[in-house]
Amino acid sequence: MQPSKSDKSGDRIRLVGVPRERADSHWRRYAEDLGVIATVDTLARPLRELRISVTDRCNFRCSYCMPKEIFGGDFVFMPRDELLTFEEIARVARLFAEQGVKKLRLTGGEPLLRRDLERLIEMLAGTDGIADIALTTNGAALAGKAQALKHAGLTRVSVSLDALDDEVFGAMNDVGFPVRRVLEGIDAAAHVGLLPVKVNMVVKRGVNDHCILAMAEYFRERPAILRLIEFMDVGTTNRWKPDEVVPAAEIHRMIDARWPLEPLAASHPGEVASRYRYRDGGGQIGLIASVTKPFCGSCTRARLSADGKLHTCLFATSGHDLRALLRGGASDQEITRQLRSIWTSRADRYSETRTALSTDQPKVEMSYIGG
Ligand SMILES: C[S@@+](CC[C@H](N)C(=O)[O-])C[C@H]1O[C@@H](n2cnc3c(N)ncnc32)[C@H](O)[C@@H]1O
Ligand code: SF4
Repeated sequence: MQPSKSDKSGDRIRLVGVPRERADSHWRRYAEDLGVIATVDTLARPLRELRISVTDRCNFRCSYCMPKEIFGGDFVFMPRDELLTFEEIARVARLFAEQGVKKLRLTGGEPLLRRDLERLIEMLAGTDGIADIALTTNGAALAGKAQALKHAGLTRVSVSLDALDDEVFGAMNDVGFPVRRVLEGIDAAAHVGLLPVKVNMVVKRGVNDHCILAMAEYFRERPAILRLIEFMDVGTTNRWKPDEVVPAAEIHRMIDARWPLEPLAASHPGEVASRYRYRDGGGQIGLIASVTKPFCGSCTRARLSADGKLHTCLFATSGHDLRALLRGGASDQEITRQLRSIWTSRADRYSETRTALSTDQPKVEMSYIGG
């Protein structure tokens, strides 16, 4: 274990479990700059963000996430009593915040399907150390809820939208959900000040790659940042094939040829999107190259499934059961000890070691672990 060290301002920082040879990593400097207590893993990555899945259910059946053949009428979702209660989630969030987590993201499944989500947001917003509470949603119910979410303390929202063309989008969400209603949700979020709204477009070759320029053009004009995401091999049911991935570099070339782009510096260490600005002043875009340019080296995220399993990688094969601790009467100190032990022994870097073999490994589904 690395000994404690004083930073410039004299505050103690604790870097737990860092091999001495990595002591000069950028993360150590980052932790020092922030003057924070940082629990870091075996690759010196601090714990900064907790993604919380509040449900494994969804009203869409996006083929890349919850294909209908698998998640059909017979699929058994989590029974209600297996979901963490809001009180349990808030307790876990508080203990994570004490270990350096600054940002929470609510996700799923479709988080807006969880009843009274605003009440959870209100509880989380009061947590010491949490500076940012974001939500990732398919936008179906956003127009009617944006105001209440903002009022409860939500700071930002990311909305998924894969095309502006109803036929393409309806086929991708596989329930024929219309584009217009998602756009209304995006407008409502911007209107109440959940800014900047990020719009996530998963690009699949031969499915919606012909829609990229229309999406870029539409969102250039609006207070939204389009983020183009490479189709990933999450879970085991989406029949991922490498040739369906459109590399971020190719997406960049396509947009740059129409509206020249220039790169922007990362706004914080560990940012997943490479950001670009339109040279003509038409806003910015993000490219998320999770397959062709993995960012495991800067991944500071832990993920909590709706039934209380803690995962330290999106591509994990199993999680650590926090619900058993929460419901078994464990004290805060005992849970904290467990959280630290899990994070300090973390060595995951699936995307950097992805091979033809490892893509077939059993992995938990994105709708379960939280995207
Ligand atoms: C799992 S969803 C959960 C939140 C919400 N239902 C939504 O769609 O925004 C979170 C994000 O993961 C993305 N996603 C799901 N499966 C993916 C895949 N195979 N590759 C890349 N992104 C994926 C979705 O597009 C969405 O932006
Ligand atoms: S990506 Fe989101 S909206 Fe689509 S099926 Fe998965 S959880 Fe539902």
